Amino acid sequence: MKKKNLIVFGTRPEAIKMAPLVKEFQIYQDIFETKVCITAQHREMLDQVLDFFEITPDYDLNLMKPNQNLYSLTADIITGLKTILEEFKPDYVYVHGDTTTTMASSIAAFYSGAKVCHVEAGLRTFNKRSPFPEEVNRSVAGSICDYHFSPTITSKSNLLRENISEESILVTGNTVIDALHFSSEKVTSKNYSDEEVVMLKNIVSTSKRLVLVTGHRRENHGQGFINICQALKEIAITNEDVEVIYPVHLNPNVQKPVYELLNDIDNVKLINPLSYPAFVWLMNQSYLIITDSGGVQEEAPSLGKPVLVMRDTTERPEAVDAGTVLLVGTDKNKIVKETQKLLDKEENYLLMSKLHNPYGNGKACGQIVNFIKAL
Ligand code: UD1
Ligand code: UDP
Repeated sequence: MKKKNLIVFGTRPEAIKMAPLVKEFQIYQDIFETKVCITAQHREMLDQVLDFFEITPDYDLNLMKPNQNLYSLTADIITGLKTILEEFKPDYVYVHGDTTTTMASSIAAFYSGAKVCHVEAGLRTFNKRSPFPEEVNRSVAGSICDYHFSPTITSKSNLLRENISEESILVTGNTVIDALHFSSEKVTSKNYSDEEVVMLKNIVSTSKRLVLVTGHRRENHGQGFINICQALKEIAITNEDVEVIYPVHLNPNVQKPVYELLNDIDNVKLINPLSYPAFVWLMNQSYLIITDSGGVQEEAPSLGKPVLVMRDTTERPEAVDAGTVLLVGTDKNKIVKETQKLLDKEENYLLMSKLHNPYGNGKACGQIVNFIKAL
């Protein structure tokens, strides 16, 4: 009998990082029956990823509501999954990372009796309010899951400290590097053309240094985003040879301050969230990246791009240790000062723009599938 897999995800980053796993399981259709369930905690930003990776979900809970709250989202995911789990009866359920979808799906999967597998397991800041609510989400998933696929040795050690048994953990690298490789192969293939990359080529200035920005963290909503926007405004006004490009996350708590505070500055371009290949293209064109994103902290070092992280904590210490990522928090002066250092001092820039690959070699999904095959 084939083993039954249910792969569950709901937001843009989970989709990017689970897409290569879906593809890998599809190679072994003789051994596994694999189905994909999306909670659609995100809608447009999730659909962009599904389109690029050509994944058609088997189940779509279609849950996203405007400016949704954590209480009803959590409840809707758990009750929505009940029917699917009872109908499909998977042997294994795969969840990713640290979103509300991750936490709620791992609980529902546990209730169903399936073995629960956590991809990107063991990341910790040890501060339950930062990132909020992700640190608690991934700890809950970690305590529920039967198998843990950790991106690095550090994330494995975090799990061992929580008394997770060593034989249930596999260090694989991060599946985001698999996604990056998939993307660059697809984008460079003969028949591929991308409308968004064409659009970007028309708007990106070739004579200015590109500062790429993304941001969305809940703990930065409110004053944090006001500080971030004021810092970006000062950087843009002080440096005429710089162009700031910011694909703005669709969360209304981000859209409002960003469009209100940055809309009328010549060398700041606010654009819609980009498809994955277009964003990777833009990362490659950039001089430096300012972000609070988790995924971007993992991708940028492998592209040799310096990253200033607008957070006080990170669960991804590997790139900080390698010297390509620097935490700057959301203090306006600190963001401006550290950006200026990179813009003005070549020796600082060169130190931070060395290529590093702390998050793997792009073969994480192959290792996960082999592990499950051997059970
Ligand atoms: C969520 C995750 C966060 C992850 C981030 C990735 C939680 C609590 N948060 O944060 O861990 O890092 O996704 O981006 O799980 N919206 C749209 N269209 C979309 C996506 C979002 O309109 O395609 C708007 C909606 O109004 C939605 C709101 O953004 O209600 C918030 O979405 P939500 O998933 O709750 O929070 P994020 O900030 O996106
Ligand atoms: N990304 C994208 N389009 C964009 C901005 C980001 O495809 O306009 C990708 C980025 O390459 C990374 C992921 O989205 O893989 C990060 O998502 P996000 O910052 O929303 O979430 P986080 O990683 O912080 O959970």
